[in-house]
Amino acid sequence: MERTFIILKPDAVQRGLIGEILARFERRGLKFAAMKMVHVDEELARAHYAVHEGRPFFDGLITYITSSPVVALVVEGTDAIAVVRKTVGATKPAEAEPGTIRADFGLEIGRNLVHASDGPDTAAGEIALWFGEDLIAWDRNVDAWIFE
Ligand code: RTP
Ligand code: MG
Repeated sequence: MERTFIILKPDAVQRGLIGEILARFERRGLKFAAMKMVHVDEELARAHYAVHEGRPFFDGLITYITSSPVVALVVEGTDAIAVVRKTVGATKPAEAEPGTIRADFGLEIGRNLVHASDGPDTAAGEIALWFGEDLIAWDRNVDAWIFE
């Protein structure tokens, strides 16, 4: 079972898309392990996006992610990292496949609605940064109908 980290970015929250986006992950069969609403401060934003420091879009990215509250969550399931990245779609909404979140709700790279961890190391690091040890272990009664 794999875990990954997701952010519903400020545009998703402001546009009233929290429910629609969460529903896609929930329907897929992913199990929520943690969730919270956060008004991201500059320190957390810089730590989360440290890999992009120095890129031309970095300042705009920090301004965007700190501009308004986000919803941060951890989900788990079979191949969760790849499954979530595919459900989210390509970074540029114009290049995202129809049916993905970024294609169905977005137009621009700087307003692409969702963040998702891109590999096992980043997933572990981002979960630790945003939630520490604060994950909920719980029994979900439908698991036998989702996991073989
Ligand atoms: P994310 O980290 O948010 O899940 O997105 P990603 O992996 O698909 O894309 P990444 O390369 O990690 O970029 C992080 C976020 O920075 C913004 N960005 N803007 N203007 C640009 O050229 C540019 N490139 C990246 C996007 O908001 C992207 O999601
Ligand atoms: Mg990324």
